[in-house]
Amino acid sequence: MKKNLLLLWAVLLTFGAPLRASDGMWLPLLLKQLNEAEMKGLGMKMSAEDIYSVNKSSLKDAIVHFGGGCTGEVISDKGLILTNHHCGEGRIQALSTMQNNYYADGYWAKSMSEEMPSKGLFVTFIIRIEDVTKAVLENVSAEMPEPMRQLQVERNIAAVREAAARESWQETQVKPFFHGNQYYLFVTETYRDIRFVGAPPASIGSFGKDTDNWVWPRHTGDFSLFRIYADKNNRPAEYSADNVPFKPRHFLPISLDGVQEGDFTMIFGFPGATNAYLPAIAVQQTIEIMNPARIDVRNKTLGVYDAAMRADAQVRLQYVSKQARLANSWKKWIGEKQGLEAADAVNKKLAFEAEFQRRVMAKEEWKWKYGTLLDDLNAKYKDLRVYLQSLEYGLEIGSRNIELFQLANSLQSYVNILDNNGAQELAKRGPALVSYLEGFYKDYRPEIDQKVFAELMALYIGKVKADFMANTAVEQATSYGKNYDQWASELFSESILTKPGTALQMARVKPDDLINAVKNDPAYLLARAIVAANNDKLSKPVSSIRLDIDRLQRQYMEAMMLAFPEKRFFPDANSTLRIGYGQVRGSQPKDGILYQPITYLDGVVEKYKPGDYEYDVPAKLIQLHKNKDFGPYAAANGKMPVAFTGNNHTTGGNSGSPAIDAHGNLIGLNFDRQWEGTMSDIFYDPEICRNIMVDIRYVLFLIDKFGGAGHLVKEMKLVRPKTGSRK
Ligand code: ARG
Ligand code: GLU
Repeated sequence: MKKNLLLLWAVLLTFGAPLRASDGMWLPLLLKQLNEAEMKGLGMKMSAEDIYSVNKSSLKDAIVHFGGGCTGEVISDKGLILTNHHCGEGRIQALSTMQNNYYADGYWAKSMSEEMPSKGLFVTFIIRIEDVTKAVLENVSAEMPEPMRQLQVERNIAAVREAAARESWQETQVKPFFHGNQYYLFVTETYRDIRFVGAPPASIGSFGKDTDNWVWPRHTGDFSLFRIYADKNNRPAEYSADNVPFKPRHFLPISLDGVQEGDFTMIFGFPGATNAYLPAIAVQQTIEIMNPARIDVRNKTLGVYDAAMRADAQVRLQYVSKQARLANSWKKWIGEKQGLEAADAVNKKLAFEAEFQRRVMAKEEWKWKYGTLLDDLNAKYKDLRVYLQSLEYGLEIGSRNIELFQLANSLQSYVNILDNNGAQELAKRGPALVSYLEGFYKDYRPEIDQKVFAELMALYIGKVKADFMANTAVEQATSYGKNYDQWASELFSESILTKPGTALQMARVKPDDLINAVKNDPAYLLARAIVAANNDKLSKPVSSIRLDIDRLQRQYMEAMMLAFPEKRFFPDANSTLRIGYGQVRGSQPKDGILYQPITYLDGVVEKYKPGDYEYDVPAKLIQLHKNKDFGPYAAANGKMPVAFTGNNHTTGGNSGSPAIDAHGNLIGLNFDRQWEGTMSDIFYDPEICRNIMVDIRYVLFLIDKFGGAGHLVKEMKLVRPKTGSRK
């Protein structure tokens, strides 16, 4: 009995505490203070200084913000970077044609001369981070009206950036943390000559497509390779044939020893946005109004895309990136809503709020300062309610799903130039206009967009409140007797924007002719009317309420941190460099269901369906599996590992982030979360939320054994921290 109790204690000590402590996305410069001890408790063998240092090279020097939306890491001393396939997807797709379909067939540059420039792609390093809260909040008082405060903060930020020590090729950025209670300065370096080096065929890189997306168990080889080029001084430079491979301050060694349940893991990257400190009422609105509206719109768009893509290989290539973007958030919103409901997040938040209120009212000083905060917040969210459904439908339909509208919206800046500065000025922008149109039309199928238009305009008329609709849209819908197909068909045949040949020809010869035609184009006018209605009737009143919400949320954040001194708060993600950490862990997402933490190539073969849209893979992969031809990359059990899960707190933007072991070696590549835990941006449950990483050994196996690009692996530094340094 006694022995059993002792055992229980030991189990609790080893597993209880670390499992609970895994939430948070932490600032690298505060690790020593806040996290280092706990990280060591979880098995980390490095120091905080090894991870982030301004004085010596550290892990952070190998991490890049990839294209502003994902994360990548440097894995060789020649500037080779690794990121997800889905992060490189748009780039790979843009470089592909039906003849040279790198997206579908995969690609491996055999030498640097075969590495392909990817115009517009950039990666950013963080050189230094500083707490500048005091300077940014100078002359800012609690009583100041919000607009005045904003002005003062902006002025202070400008001064901080101006005064920051930096090299001429470096840039600065100041961002708010804890909803404006703290501010940090980032000194950055951005490289703009980034070239595509290699990727597996999409059938492997996005294996399982939308059915497997956000789901465990997972079998996706979600990676691609790029390289940073620099000028001869190793500094950022625009593309030039003379540029040379970038020499990094640090690159990540790669561990061939793999992972086991319980191993320490750390995710280093650029998480985009979380909302961990919302009041219950906001969570409720997300569940009841916002997510359902967005899901509804995208159901329609994706239904049209899906049918068209399954039917035609060229459409598949043209729409794959657009489809993936729309589908990814769509599926996440569904999972998030379900997860918030399953976790009873609203009631748990309400219980927290009751305790908050109790603590605040128990202290005289807080009572006056914070006593009505929650009531005020609730009142403001109630004011929002009348707009929310219309706003979500309006924005999705006006700006995000109908390509013709997106084109029209982008052309508005050219209309402005013509109107304000004349044809000569516009002619100067001619080449940019042509290049934009070429990019757009390369992947545009008006017949698909026309179907989307018909479906979505029916939703617009049906779901947006009459007060908030664009009159033009209402009039046209009425004049067609709500025959949306006919409306779509006439609009698409009348508009010049659906005629790539004509539009491009005019743009090349005389851009002002095109833009003059655009100004009176029925599709352009309708798009502008809807955007204007969204702005004037929805976004404007909503922003003015949100201004108050932002102020109240800032005070609520400050008050929570005071009233719960026993809790450790992390700042919501805001696309800045962060660290999440935990261990390799499976989970028990539902009664009777146990998820193993590791998947193998066996699972790819189980899911394999020749010719299938989502589950086909090249025969060569099946053959390698059959022959167990895994090279040095197999796990100790002789199998080929594919992916693993851990309790690291991550979000969108963490895609491509390195999973790093206790010693600072690369063990995997973060690319997703599991379905039952997709609510983690708003409500993190350590028992259920898991991030998904592709095992680095699968990446190496695919490059070397599958792709025959062993020369790329030779560039990397392979290590065996667990089993000794034999290779
Ligand atoms: N869900 C992952 C993320 O949020 C992967 C998305 C890429 N895959 C896809 N089918 N869209 O970005
Ligand atoms: N796939 C996501 C991304 O593109 C990362 C997964 C997540 O949202 O957790 O950043």
